[in-house]
Amino acid sequence: MKKISRRLFVEGTGAGIVAVAIPLEGQAQSAPAAPTTASNAPKTTIKLTINGQQRSMEVEDRWTLVEVLRDHLQLTGTKIGCDRGECGACTVLVNGKAVYSCSQLAVWMDGRTVQTIEGLAQGTKLDPLQTAFIEHDAPQCGYCTSGQLMAAKALLNSNPKPTREEVRAGMTGNLCRCSNYNHYVEAVMAAAGTLKSGGAA
Ligand code: FES
Ligand code: FES
Repeated sequence: MKKISRRLFVEGTGAGIVAVAIPLEGQAQSAPAAPTTASNAPKTTIKLTINGQQRSMEVEDRWTLVEVLRDHLQLTGTKIGCDRGECGACTVLVNGKAVYSCSQLAVWMDGRTVQTIEGLAQGTKLDPLQTAFIEHDAPQCGYCTSGQLMAAKALLNSNPKPTREEVRAGMTGNLCRCSNYNHYVEAVMAAAGTLKSGGAA
């Protein structure tokens, strides 16, 4: 099996989350170069879909996606760990792919579809991944869990029946300070139906 280091992942191995540090195709490239005050910061009106709901909102060009989600839409299930594209706690889906929301400008979301942890369950019905995470004791302190769930969701979107190695590779970009990686992998495989009895794939 090809060994995937975190450095390799960030440099381009582990598709999907790797795209977080660069603008998605067709996105505006500019960000304010110098600090500005809240009153005179450049603003842009964007239209996007968040958790199935269409929204039009004015955002400052310097705001990150996670800033908009947490501070302006109160979608605080998305967490901030490092705020610099290293830990994965802020992972959300943009057009179905996992991205670090701390590394995306909100203006880049114009015309995009964003899914956060709040949009994973259908009403009171948990997503199979959420159920599997509970059943396999995946969350410990829980801080990384929403990011882990969204990374897993993106993985199963593109690969519904992943092997253990593919799950590990697909979630390489999500760190867990409680080091509960094995339980997260087991849970994803259970949700995908690829976990054989006894835990072995
Ligand atoms: S908070 Fe975004 S990668 Fe750590
Ligand atoms: S469960 Fe504590 S950081 Fe992952």
